[in-house]
Amino acid sequence: MLKTILTGDRPTGPLHIGHYFGSLTSRKAFEKEYKTFIIIADIQALTDNWDETSKVSKAVLEVATDNLALSLDLSKTTLFIQSQIPQIAELTVLFSNLVTINRLKRNPTIKTEIEQKKNKFGDSGESVTFGFLGYPVSQTADITVVRANLVPVGIDQMPVIEQGVEIIEKFNRLYKNEVFPHFEGKLSTAPKILGLDGNAKMSKSLGNCVYLKDSDEETLAKIKSAKTDSGNSLTFEPETRPEISNLVLLYSLVNEIDVEIAVKDLVGIQYGAFKQKLAQDVNNYFREFREKRMELVNKPEFVRQVLENGRQKVLQEAEKTMQMVRQAMGIEY
Ligand code: TRP
Repeated sequence: MLKTILTGDRPTGPLHIGHYFGSLTSRKAFEKEYKTFIIIADIQALTDNWDETSKVSKAVLEVATDNLALSLDLSKTTLFIQSQIPQIAELTVLFSNLVTINRLKRNPTIKTEIEQKKNKFGDSGESVTFGFLGYPVSQTADITVVRANLVPVGIDQMPVIEQGVEIIEKFNRLYKNEVFPHFEGKLSTAPKILGLDGNAKMSKSLGNCVYLKDSDEETLAKIKSAKTDSGNSLTFEPETRPEISNLVLLYSLVNEIDVEIAVKDLVGIQYGAFKQKLAQDVNNYFREFREKRMELVNKPEFVRQVLENGRQKVLQEAEKTMQMVRQAMGIEY
């Protein structure tokens, strides 16, 4: 039987080139081997953005469009919106009894994110909500509602997946029923692109990304103003020269060559000329994708129809799952 993949994103803004190399390209590749579900996790996005619901709802269509610009084969890949599947909420509630609050607080991903929140809100964690603390539980429901086996994620999300595995192992053990297949995280092999300011993360809120939807001119302007250092050579030394190495990495990715070859290619080029060339290569690399994306922007009814088809397909799977869950738990009436 074909293995099932579930992966997805929080819709908080349009996707950027870090997402592209980290996860989007592999989604296209999965089609050959797996049945794939891509979730637009709007409810999860609300755990951080409950006071900005319109930011999330606007991003839902943008993220859908970014995914569809990959020219996915829609007979193999299903794109859907989390909030349209009520069974995910139902499973979340049932799973919430199978994990302790202490275990959630110990999750390394959650711990890091709580630290970030402390800094952002300037408190000692009082602002952490029930919804936020529990997002690994609802993410487990995202995965299990379609009974997925493989979950491609970045390394920072691995502890969330591991916690999900514990939850379903407990479910299967307690209710003596193999409703859920074992699942595991699948780490992306793509190297991580940093923000153009050298920050460890390319992130909308830090204003340091090149978006997939950016124009050639926007891309050039952003790359021109990317942070460099006071050296004058292009090398790949991520530990000591993160900013330059990040640009060299990006150059190697859009030219589809190894970084070592990229470094050789770039010997003697000045930073200014390099940035011009890099921007041009990035633009060439994304030309087809951006054209396809633009086509989709002009066909919002098509994007909506794809999401509606996804909703219907996932609802069917989800109801099958819930029947098995209710039976296993003895809560069928
Ligand atoms: N938490 C993931 C992120 O922040 C997004 C996500 C939501 C997800 N539900 C998922 C990823 C299910 C994989 C599977 O990137």
